[in-house]
Amino acid sequence: MTAEPASADPAAPILLFDSGVGGLSVLGKVRKVLPQAPVMYVSDNAGLPYGSKTEAQIAARVSGLLGRLTERYRPRLVCIACNTASTIALASVREVLEVPIVGTVPAIKPAAAMTRTSVIGLLGTEATIRQGYVDRLEAEFAADKRLLRHGAPELVAAAEAKLRGLPVDPAVFTRAAAALRAMPDGGRIDTVVLACTHFPLLEAELAEAFGPGVRFIDGSDGIARRIAFLTQGQDWANSAEGDIALFTKDDPANECLIPALAHYGIARRLVF
Ligand code: DGL
Repeated sequence: MTAEPASADPAAPILLFDSGVGGLSVLGKVRKVLPQAPVMYVSDNAGLPYGSKTEAQIAARVSGLLGRLTERYRPRLVCIACNTASTIALASVREVLEVPIVGTVPAIKPAAAMTRTSVIGLLGTEATIRQGYVDRLEAEFAADKRLLRHGAPELVAAAEAKLRGLPVDPAVFTRAAAALRAMPDGGRIDTVVLACTHFPLLEAELAEAFGPGVRFIDGSDGIARRIAFLTQGQDWANSAEGDIALFTKDDPANECLIPALAHYGIARRLVF
């Protein structure tokens, strides 16, 4: 017997997947366009950080986990709310899963339309900035611009700490800005692509570090619009108990995330 498509069930969630809290920046935008949607937020905190892993490790981990998660929770749509996982594993995950998958693409196209100086900075994880996926976006949309890339793993840790209410050394933001500024033409950067979903959670701190005259762009608005488009006309039913965050590792430090999760409409936590 063939299983019913998940989208026929109004309680079937949208599953947002990231290595940690970064995908919450995407969830915030999804909530704005689809306030009625049941959501399952998945943090692969046992695998965090992805940015320092190899392509093979990330691809195996993401495909394996998403396979198990979709089988168990039958989401109507999966959003890989992580640039590192998307730029490495999106194509292979799409090949094996039948559910619609929305990935996170570094926002190089809109950045190229925004820049006046033709110099764009890109902050991502070390794994993301070396991807052919980024080379292709650059060649397609920013061939006549200068794209300066910097891998900033300490910003991932900073976002994780900030959302837990822990102190963050402001030097991590000045170091990220200084690294881009120090590159040839870096002084002319007027647009910065936040190519890691953790980084929009730090936009205020990064704006201060870069100073006036720099605008930030990330892919979350486009993702939210795409999810709304793909789920057009579908029925939605929220659980009375509220939306769930699933973690791949039980960690007492996750207790500190309760207020941040509540801010994004997540009421319950489970370990997968
Ligand atoms: N949030 C992730 C991204 O968008 C990666 C963070 C990490 O695990 O290194 O790239």
